[in-house]
Amino acid sequence: MQELSNKVAVITGAASGIGLALAKRAASEGMRVVMADIEAPALADAVAEIQATGANAIGVVTDVANEASIQALADRAFEEFGAVHMLCNNAGVSGGGGPSWEIPDNAWQWTFGVNLWSVVYALRAFIPRMIEQGEGHVVNTASSAGLKTLPFVAPYAATKHAVVAISEALCIELGMFAPGLGVSVLCPGWVDTKIADSDRNWPAHLGEPQTPPEGGDDMREVSRGLLSAGISPSVAADAVFAAVNEGRFWVFPDGMGPRLAHARIDEIDGGTLPVMTELFDDTDYGRTN
Ligand SMILES: NC(=O)c1ccc[n+]([C@@H]2O[C@H](COP(=O)([O-])OP(=O)(O)OC[C@H]3O[C@@H](n4cnc5c(N)ncnc54)[C@H](O)[C@@H]3O)[C@@H](O)[C@H]2O)c1
Repeated sequence: MQELSNKVAVITGAASGIGLALAKRAASEGMRVVMADIEAPALADAVAEIQATGANAIGVVTDVANEASIQALADRAFEEFGAVHMLCNNAGVSGGGGPSWEIPDNAWQWTFGVNLWSVVYALRAFIPRMIEQGEGHVVNTASSAGLKTLPFVAPYAATKHAVVAISEALCIELGMFAPGLGVSVLCPGWVDTKIADSDRNWPAHLGEPQTPPEGGDDMREVSRGLLSAGISPSVAADAVFAAVNEGRFWVFPDGMGPRLAHARIDEIDGGTLPVMTELFDDTDYGRTN
């Protein structure tokens, strides 16, 4: 999709990090922007910041893990602007952490709801109307962790692999049935955002949050350090808009995704055990056969 001026973008997780950067970039392209997030005060500030540039933006408080809430977001966007040309399924949480067998059900449910079911719900809510329009682009935010699995965040890795898979299926399906609609999947490494503090949005209806695993506070500090050394969210947003412009599926705003994908293929080819490479540094932490 090349001409963006006056077109409509819907962005989830738009109050912070990559979503906010996508909203700013969309506004700078002259798009009308629907910003969705669960964190109402942060969303109000983000919308005000974008409106102050003269852009046409609205905020819709949305829980992407809730299908009715996503349906309401779609209805509001189509009522307000009559169309949706760019759908960015971006909201996400770092989710439950620790050894897989110790992560409680509600932490798996939280991670799967926000990172995975949100995408399924959004496809149902938006795609039929976008197909009717005949033109548009879907951007799903996955992660390089969707190409090579990280230990101690199994729910996150599982959802991001799933988002890559759903995006690939969607791309082929739309290619067959609605070639005017494009798909991209964003797979960054570390991006300087607030994702290490995702539990600020822990949903009360899931009960008591997971007790941090042993060393959990240290892990959070390590994550914060890695994130702050990562790329700026605006670099990720620029890469997304370049991909939308070129109709490109894979979006790698840094070199990490392809390197990790190759590392995984080498393990598959060589029949070796999975190792934890590069996401943390250049050391192989895993076992070898
Ligand atoms: N930061 C990174 O290093 C990195 C790397 C790869 C992928 N990602 C992905 O990027 C996406 C954006 O995350 P970020 O890094 O900008 O983090 P962030 O915490 O800065 O932003 C995430 C936004 O999602 C919102 N959100 C959380 N739960 C929600 C819900 N139930 N409904 C609606 N909104 C909700 C938060 O309020 C927040 O505004 C996520 O999908 C994440 O997995 C991030």
